[in-house]
Amino acid sequence: MERTILRFIMIFIISSHKIKKEKMKVLLINGSPRKNGNTNLALSEVAETLRNNGIDSDIVHIGTKAVQGCIACNECRESGHCVFRDELYLTIREKLQHSDGLIIGSPVYYSGPNGSLCAILDRVFYSCSDFLCYKPGAAIVVCRRGGASATFDRLNKYFTITNMPVVSSQYWNSVHGLMAGEAAGDAEGLQVMRTLGKNMAWLLKNIKTGAWPLPEPEERIATNFIRQAE
Ligand SMILES: Cc1cc2nc3c(=O)[nH]c(=O)nc-3n(C[C@H](O)[C@H](O)[C@H](O)COP(=O)(O)O)c2cc1C
Repeated sequence: MERTILRFIMIFIISSHKIKKEKMKVLLINGSPRKNGNTNLALSEVAETLRNNGIDSDIVHIGTKAVQGCIACNECRESGHCVFRDELYLTIREKLQHSDGLIIGSPVYYSGPNGSLCAILDRVFYSCSDFLCYKPGAAIVVCRRGGASATFDRLNKYFTITNMPVVSSQYWNSVHGLMAGEAAGDAEGLQVMRTLGKNMAWLLKNIKTGAWPLPEPEERIATNFIRQAE
């Protein structure tokens, strides 16, 4: 009797450890300088849905400090690491390595993603593509009134040049609001966020089952459009 109970306890400990170890995680990047603004509100809605579907998440805020942009030195082509080792880059890089998916959130500034966010994303995607490929990605955007689709398209370009499956929702991923907190009143936008969270969790779980191996990449061909002068 005692031995049976002991066996059950051992099985419980081992299986709960296994579940814990295998829990997947999504990194969320808040591109707004407003830590508690509307972008954070929208990302939090996705994060809660992920949590309800058994997926952990982690939000990195890019903050209010000046963000170094890419200087096209191409050092990362050799080293796989950006020449600038600022805290924001190192944090995102480290967290991405241990994440199964990525969601980028941006406020709309003049119909595009905010400049500081693009500065860090250019460096991250240029230097980290090796461990980003085949991880599902999604963009979400927040605006007062216009420019959501253009911003959404721009952010999706990072995923679609990096072999990352793009996760969709029931509408283009945007939420509306001007002053911090106003997005809480956009019921449709928040539903789009929850659907995105569910779809991301569903895709991650399907990938995790590993029914099919990842595609074998071809050797890369790179051409440009400059013709030799005659
Ligand atoms: C510099 C700047 C430019 C903006 N440009 C637009 C715009 O083109 N379209 C729009 O609808 N809202 C625009 N907004 C409003 C923000 O997108 C809106 O306030 C959003 O909720 C900000 O998100 P946050 O609270 O996460 O920072 C702009 C705001 C700023 C500060």
